Amino acid sequence: MSGVTVVDHPLVARHLSVLRDRATPSSDFRRRLSDISMLLLFEALRDLRVREDQLETPLETTGGMRLADEIVVIAILRAGLGMTDGALRLIPEARVGHLGLYRDEESLQPVGYYESIPRHAADAEVVVVDPMLATGGSALSALDRLKPDVGGRLRLVCLVAAPEGIAVVQDAHPDVPIFCAAIDRRLDERGYIRPGLGDAGDRIFGTE
Ligand code: PRP
Ligand code: URA
Repeated sequence: MSGVTVVDHPLVARHLSVLRDRATPSSDFRRRLSDISMLLLFEALRDLRVREDQLETPLETTGGMRLADEIVVIAILRAGLGMTDGALRLIPEARVGHLGLYRDEESLQPVGYYESIPRHAADAEVVVVDPMLATGGSALSALDRLKPDVGGRLRLVCLVAAPEGIAVVQDAHPDVPIFCAAIDRRLDERGYIRPGLGDAGDRIFGTE
């Protein structure tokens, strides 16, 4: 599917299998989600720009590199919080922002309740993280909010995507690449991704 990268790696597939399993407790779910997030972001940031640099080893001067652009990770609450720890292990210097959105259970429309976007350069690399891309409403709302601030350098990283959500995001933001571990079959009548992994926020935080 154009514009969507399904990260194809045995370790990603194994982590995802454990995350899908209803028997996986929240403590394991959180750790696995953090680990798979590192792998997904590793792939999503493969084309980051770098700048050459010089550094001193204990023995001599040598060439090194530094990241050319500031990196901002925006987590869609709540479930995106489960991906920020992995993102920060991968990119310790990243700034982290939060967008609080929940899906209304009846309409499935996103409702905003919190926003904290760090100040950042107009050409920063902005990575939106949320494990689930279902109807696409939450991701669309986040991208609509962020687009005016960001010079087109947005990416969306999720764990499981539904074809319906991908279509919604791509229709409005065809320039935003999407990275995920799997594209699932479809949404059910309650807007859940099938086969999916259930409610990601509930599984991370042990709520229900
Ligand atoms: C989940 C998930 C996404 C959203 C995806 O959040 O984390 O943000 O649903 O669904 P959509 O593509 O149809 O918008 P939820 O609204 O359940 O809130 P939570 O993370 O606080 O549990
Ligand atoms: N949000 C979730 O957490 N899971 C789904 O399957 C759909 C939306």
